[in-house]
Amino acid sequence: MEKKGSIYKVSGPVVIARNVENPRMYDVVKVGDIGLVGEIIKLDGENIIIQVYEDTSGLRPGEAVKNTNRQLSVMLAPGLIGSIFDGIQRPLDKIMEQSGDFIERGIDVSSLDMKRKWHFVPLINNGDEIKAGSIIGEVDETSVIKHKVMVPFGLSGKIDGLKEGDYTITDEIAVVKNDGKKEKISMLQYWPVRVPRPVKEKFSPKIPLITGQRIIDTFFPVAKGGTAAVPGPFGSGKTVIQHQLAKWSDSDIIVYVGCGERGNEMTEILTTFPELKDSKTGKPLMERTILIANTSNMPVAAREASIYTGITIAEYYRDMGYSIALMADSTSRWAEALREISGRLEEMPGEEGYPAYLGRKVAEFYERAGMVRVLNDSIGSVTAIGAVSPPGGDISEPVSQNTLRVTRVFWALDASLANRRHFPSINWLNSYSLYKEELNDWYEKNTEREWSELRDGAMKLLQEENEINEVVQLVGYDALPEKEKEVLDIAKIIREDYLQQSAFDDIDTYSSMKKQYWMLKSIMMMHDAEKKILEKGVIVEQLQKTKAKEKIARMKYVKEENIGDYFKEIEEALAELEKIEPTSEI
Ligand SMILES: Nc1ncnc2c1ncn2[C@@H]1O[C@H](COP(=O)(O)OP(=O)(O)OP(=O)(O)O)[C@@H](O)[C@H]1O
Ligand SMILES: [Mg+2]
Repeated sequence: MEKKGSIYKVSGPVVIARNVENPRMYDVVKVGDIGLVGEIIKLDGENIIIQVYEDTSGLRPGEAVKNTNRQLSVMLAPGLIGSIFDGIQRPLDKIMEQSGDFIERGIDVSSLDMKRKWHFVPLINNGDEIKAGSIIGEVDETSVIKHKVMVPFGLSGKIDGLKEGDYTITDEIAVVKNDGKKEKISMLQYWPVRVPRPVKEKFSPKIPLITGQRIIDTFFPVAKGGTAAVPGPFGSGKTVIQHQLAKWSDSDIIVYVGCGERGNEMTEILTTFPELKDSKTGKPLMERTILIANTSNMPVAAREASIYTGITIAEYYRDMGYSIALMADSTSRWAEALREISGRLEEMPGEEGYPAYLGRKVAEFYERAGMVRVLNDSIGSVTAIGAVSPPGGDISEPVSQNTLRVTRVFWALDASLANRRHFPSINWLNSYSLYKEELNDWYEKNTEREWSELRDGAMKLLQEENEINEVVQLVGYDALPEKEKEVLDIAKIIREDYLQQSAFDDIDTYSSMKKQYWMLKSIMMMHDAEKKILEKGVIVEQLQKTKAKEKIARMKYVKEENIGDYFKEIEEALAELEKIEPTSEI
């Protein structure tokens, strides 16, 4: 008698099974009598090692293990946007409906609504030649996103039977004829999450992702299709930055993968996101957002899978020609899941107990970002931005180090800035963007001519401030030449009136590039004006309470549409400033 697949041993989220039918790496299996979802992650002689995406307590040796013979895949079709999924694309709200807050195990719910009808409009004609990835029609998925329906991979030929109408995602919408064979197409396709979706060509990034966050857009921009890491200690503002980018960045679609430390952090996402308004459209942000949420009380294996689920969905929309911003908060929690599973497998541990392949896994994830030409020749991009939470804020640990090795932007969050309530607490001396050169062209064409000069000038002042402060430590402020006092004066203004930006102020929360330009220009003009009058013998002490300064401090709270007029007022105030004489009163 043929033996049936069954459990041999259980170790937390890892199950060892034997005699599973036709086992292949990454096959999805149903484990135990209640059919928990698991994935084969190792084949070791007769032992088949499975990571299970649900709580394994109560599983016993001898219970059945069945192979589904498919890889861990996501369902791709209209209805993704606005959804809230867990790490293996189960709709959290539907699961909770069925089982209450405590998610039952072995629950079988479809990722997407199979009954809902979508109005499909063909974009090509019957008889047209199509290939994998070709766009054949579209659906209004939400009021802001048109879902392009694409031919699944592996199909090509002549299309037939296309007709406008209302269809569920599994209804036939057309057939593809090839060599006398006919294959039917629906709006639904599957894709294995661990495999990048193919592209024709990858470009070097040339366009910045405009975020409206001054320190990012001005000094440390990330390119569309680029990668960025946000390491920061506890409470330094990682989540707020990710939320700001979700709300304000000029990407078409947001995929937000939340790997929370604490359950309540996730609950916060689940409650705050659906309430967020989209700045561009005035509609709910969820109309262009997909949320993937894991809490610490969800099984670790699902957390491990979540970033793949997220990036696969992002690639799918990229293939329609959209730009996607994918946020992962925090990838440290993901890496810890990897470590836990590796430990259960009794693999040789690398640094700090993380598996030796941590670096490769991190790199593989970020390599899926990019600005690309896809199979249907659309240009789309996935920008990947990962928060990292190094224990104690020390970025010499393996997750930070492996992330920094592959990401090209580093926003270094700083506990001491956060403690001083300087937000965003991005340290301007340690952070960097390796896209700066590649984006220069864009900035030159799309902002003012003198932009890079202003930007570099401002950064130079910040660096000088740092050096001068070291001197101050030795000799005291009073011993400084007036010229250096003036540098400190302007650097302080750059820090407080430009870099500091409140996420919670209705106006300050977003600055367009135009506003950033006028603000930076005002500050640098003031620097020039001050330098000029110092030459007359005016001292910095006389410059503390000028009208120009007051106006510049208030500039961030000036509405976008008034910024041009406001700049004129600043020019007037600067003209007045120049009238200060050495004999003027302080
Ligand atoms: N740009 C900002 N503007 C105003 N306040 C901010 C800003 N960024 C962070 N904060 C403040 O800092 C607090 C902590 O931020 P946040 O929750 O993002 O930190 P975190 O790094 O994600 O922390 P954790 O390590 O706990 O996940 C926020 O609640 C907020 O009060
Ligand atoms: Mg956080």
